[in-house]
Amino acid sequence: MSLFKDMLKDSESLIIDEIALDFDYVPKIIKHRENEQQYIATCIKPLLQERNGKNLFIFGSPGIGKTLAIKHILRDMENETDSVIPIYINCWKTDTNYKIVNEICKQINYKFVLNKKTDELIRDVCSIINKKSAVIIFDEVDKLAEQGIIYSLLEDIYKKTMILVTNNKNFLSDIDPRIKSRLIPELLEFKPYNKEETKSILIDRRDHAFVKDIWDEDSFNMIVDKAFELNDIRGGLYLMKEAAVIAENNSSRTIKKEFIENAVKKLVDFKSNDNSFDEKEKIIIELVKNNSGKKLKELHELFINSGTEIPYRTFFDKIKKLEKNGFISTKELEGAGKSTIVSYNKKLDEF
Ligand SMILES: Nc1ncnc2c1ncn2[C@@H]1O[C@H](COP(=O)(O)OP(=O)(O)O)[C@@H](O)[C@H]1O
Ligand SMILES: [Mg+2]
Repeated sequence: MSLFKDMLKDSESLIIDEIALDFDYVPKIIKHRENEQQYIATCIKPLLQERNGKNLFIFGSPGIGKTLAIKHILRDMENETDSVIPIYINCWKTDTNYKIVNEICKQINYKFVLNKKTDELIRDVCSIINKKSAVIIFDEVDKLAEQGIIYSLLEDIYKKTMILVTNNKNFLSDIDPRIKSRLIPELLEFKPYNKEETKSILIDRRDHAFVKDIWDEDSFNMIVDKAFELNDIRGGLYLMKEAAVIAENNSSRTIKKEFIENAVKKLVDFKSNDNSFDEKEKIIIELVKNNSGKKLKELHELFINSGTEIPYRTFFDKIKKLEKNGFISTKELEGAGKSTIVSYNKKLDEF
C-alpha cells in the first residue's frame, strides 16, 4: 500500500492562484466600495492642485474592506502623480513614535537615520515632505501606544490629507483634544456588505483562486452565509481556502458540504492562530468569556484562585495583549478608586 497513492498530484491541485485568497491581496477592481473610494479621493484631490487636503476619519467593523479601499486608492494615486507622497502605517505593527518615524523614513527612502533621536527624525521627515505634499494613513489607529507623532505631523506638514482608520467608532472621542482640534476630520463610515454584495465579492475571489467547477451552488452558498453572518469577508476567504485544503487531503475533486462544516470548526483557531498565545493567556480568554463584565481585580483573583500564581502587572499586560488582538475589551470606570471592566468580544467562535 502506498500512503500517497490516492493523493492529488500537484498538477491536480484545486487551487490555481493561492495569492487571490490572501488577506493582503488587492484585486484590480474593488466592488461595492465605489462611493467610499470616491469620497476618499475627494479629500485627497486638493493636494493634486497643490492645495491643502482634507483629513478623514474612517470607521466600520473588521473585514469589510477599509484597508483594501485605502490601499487601492494609494496605488491609483501613485500611478497618477509624483507630487503627493503616500505613507501608510499599520499602527498594530508600528505603534510608537520611534517606530512610526522610522517606518516613514523607510517609505520616503530617507537613509540618514543612524544615531538620530525621534524628534530629530520627525523634523527631517517633515522638511522632506514639505517639498511636496502627502497622504498619511494611520490604519488601526486605536492600536497606537503613543499619539504624539500625529500631533507633530499635523502641526508641521503644510499640505496633507491625514486619514485615521479604525474598527472603533468611538476612538475619535478618546483622542487627545490637541490632536482633535487640529485634525477636524471628515467622517466616513464603511457599512457592512449585504448578502448579495458579500456573495459577489467572494465569487470574484473564488473564480480567481480555484479550478473551475469544484464548487456547487449549495456548498458555495454555505460559505457566503457564514461570511455574511460574521460580517467579515476575511472569514469567507478563510473558509474557502480551508475547505479546499480539506478536499485535497481527501483526494476529492469537488468541495463537499462536510469539508465546509469541518472548515467552520477551524474558524475558532483561525482567530487565535493570528498570534501565539501562551497557556495562561488561553486560560484568561476562557475566564473572561465566562465572567464577561467583571472588574480586572476580580478576574485576577479568580485566576489565582483557580490555582496559578500570576503578578497583577503580568495579568494586566496579558489582558492588554488580548485586547489588542480583539478578543476582549476593557473600559475604565471613572470615580473614586478607578476600576477597569473587562468584557469578552463575541465574534468568530459564536457558532
Ligand atoms: N469589495 C471587496 N472586494 C474584494 N475583496 C474584498 C472587498 N472587501 C473586502 N475584501 C477582502 O476582505 C478582506 C478584509 O478586508 P480589509 O480591507 O482588510 O478589511 P478591514 O480593513 O475593514 O478590516 C481582505 O482580504 C480584502 O481583500
Ligand atoms: Mg484593516
